[in-house]
Amino acid sequence: MKKLTIIYWSGTGNTEMMADAIAEGARTIGGDVEVVRVEDANKDMVINSDALAFGCPSMGVEVLEEQFMEPFIESLRGIDFSGKKVALFGSYDWGDGEWMRNWVERMKEYGANLINEEGLIIRLTPDEEGINACKALGEQLVKE
Ligand SMILES: Cc1cc2nc3c(=O)[nH]c(=O)nc-3n(C[C@H](O)[C@H](O)[C@H](O)COP(=O)(O)O)c2cc1C
Repeated sequence: MKKLTIIYWSGTGNTEMMADAIAEGARTIGGDVEVVRVEDANKDMVINSDALAFGCPSMGVEVLEEQFMEPFIESLRGIDFSGKKVALFGSYDWGDGEWMRNWVERMKEYGANLINEEGLIIRLTPDEEGINACKALGEQLVKE
């Protein structure tokens, strides 16, 4: 079974709820899952995983959170993503998802195989439908 690592930043808990639901979905089908706050994450966790989910809300003006998430994502440039499934997710509020579109393009430049080309974005706190979408994404990440 695939090793999935979920690395995220969350200020008020919405993206964290998404991370936990992705983990729950993956564990339902037997995935080996680790959920890590980006503050505690390192590059080796990425290198040693078969599947990765990166989560961050839209912050600043349509950018990643700048203290922890932005430098962490920058540090992934150059990693060999071949054979790894990657998904992006995050919460937002008033925008139109621009931060996620930019993030998707950036991860493609890094060579990441994104399984959700648009990123999973949810406005503010995920409702039941949102939680179910997160669980489904978790399953997809660890399926053979
Ligand atoms: C400093 C700050 C900047 C934000 N900038 C944006 C933004 O540019 N676009 C947007 O759609 N939402 C923006 N938001 C709203 C957050 O993305 C939203 O509240 C989200 O649910 C927070 O997720 P979290 O609970 O995981 O921290 C901003 C929120 C804060 C606190």
